[in-house]
Amino acid sequence: MALYSEKVMDHFTNPRNVGKIDDADGVGEVGNAKCGDIMKIYLKVDDNQIITDVKFNTFGCASAIASSSMATCLIKGKPISEAIELSNKAVVEALDGLPPVKIHCSVLAEEAIKAAVKDYYDRHGIDYDPEMFKEKDID
Ligand code: FES
Repeated sequence: MALYSEKVMDHFTNPRNVGKIDDADGVGEVGNAKCGDIMKIYLKVDDNQIITDVKFNTFGCASAIASSSMATCLIKGKPISEAIELSNKAVVEALDGLPPVKIHCSVLAEEAIKAAVKDYYDRHGIDYDPEMFKEKDID
């Protein structure tokens, strides 16, 4: 069996939503200390708290790039409240799986989105439960 699914290969070789949003409403940057990979997510959010645009920059492995690409596809056009609920598990499922040693790459995508949402809340003075942004215990 191939190590990576066709979807992972597709989102790695042809990643969606790559880039930067200069006037982003929220930006999140996270890294994994063990592998050294870094992921940055930019959100554009309208007055109804809908994510109208999302871009990412990932300096990392194929799984991290595929996870970022898929995660941005999953939250684009969705309410912020749904983006915050996006789990790394949902990203892995949408990619038709990742090898066990690469699960942490999908966690990075979840954390980067959460960090961007937190930044959006902070910038706009929106109250939130800090529990929503607790880090996952996966490395
Ligand atoms: Fe670290 Fe993929 S190996 S994010």
